[in-house]
Amino acid sequence: MEINKLLKIGAEKIKGRQYGNPVLEATLLLGKLLKVDRVYIYTHGHEEVPDFIVDKYFEMIDRRRAGYPIQYIIKEREFMGLDFYVEEGVLIPRPDTEILVEYVLEYIDKNYGQQEVEVLDIGIGSGAIGISIAYYRKNARVYGVDISQKALEISNINKERFNLENINIFKSNLFENIDKDKKFHIIASNPPYIPKDHISSLQEEVQYEPVLALDGGKDGLDFYRRIIPESKEYLHPNGLLILEIGYDQGAAVVSIMEEEAFENIEILKDLQGLDRVVLGFKG
Ligand SMILES: C[S@@+](CC[C@H](N)C(=O)[O-])C[C@H]1O[C@@H](n2cnc3c(N)ncnc32)[C@H](O)[C@@H]1O
Repeated sequence: MEINKLLKIGAEKIKGRQYGNPVLEATLLLGKLLKVDRVYIYTHGHEEVPDFIVDKYFEMIDRRRAGYPIQYIIKEREFMGLDFYVEEGVLIPRPDTEILVEYVLEYIDKNYGQQEVEVLDIGIGSGAIGISIAYYRKNARVYGVDISQKALEISNINKERFNLENINIFKSNLFENIDKDKKFHIIASNPPYIPKDHISSLQEEVQYEPVLALDGGKDGLDFYRRIIPESKEYLHPNGLLILEIGYDQGAAVVSIMEEEAFENIEILKDLQGLDRVVLGFKG
């Protein structure tokens, strides 16, 4: 069967889904199997595809049609211009998290230039935050922790994929395995922040993602209540604490930061004007 026909049938089959772009998704799936990029697919519409690939393609299309996330099928997700390896068991990086990473990159440039700067990423997952910082700022020494074995495995795959030597990844329940005397210039985290009871009502794709990466307790704020006070022990004076939040958690997280005497607290918004990040400096 030729490329154009496969795309048409594939897109038609996944068209009914509420989320996603059927033509783009069919193109990505076929491109993955043929090991070519999107441009190739678009410009070689009349090329014949071998039967064994056609079979695999329709298997993938059926999984996608059943709601399985495309990123877990193609085992890749673009974040900050980097193609991260992902698989079931880690959170799929979200574009919202780029707001936090972009702030940190600029903050490093403004405040540290080429000087060494030590950064901790709590709940590293696939590595979206920590790996991007280590990749784009070679003067950063990044430490990434996670409680999930799978997250450690995947973030290490990404560390190798991008050939990074300036990041250490290890298992820790928040700060538990971090040396008590260790101090960081920046602590960043995108912690689980979905209220427990809301998880089952999120879109179908999210139901395939690990609960450990989503569940923020009864009101979604459990991790902020733990990370904000504890982070003070591990920050240099005036060190930056920067946290991704749910769109309706800004005021609550700001007030926890105020209670813990953080200074110059700010909320960063996304393009839709929704609260996305809270940051502050150790007082
Ligand atoms: C929302 S995900 C964020 C993943 C990644 N940083 C990102 O932005 O795509 C939260 C991460 O926190 C990890 N996590 C959950 N509880 C933890 C704990 N007690 N200590 C360390 N990490 C934890 C989860 O395994 C998950 O990888």
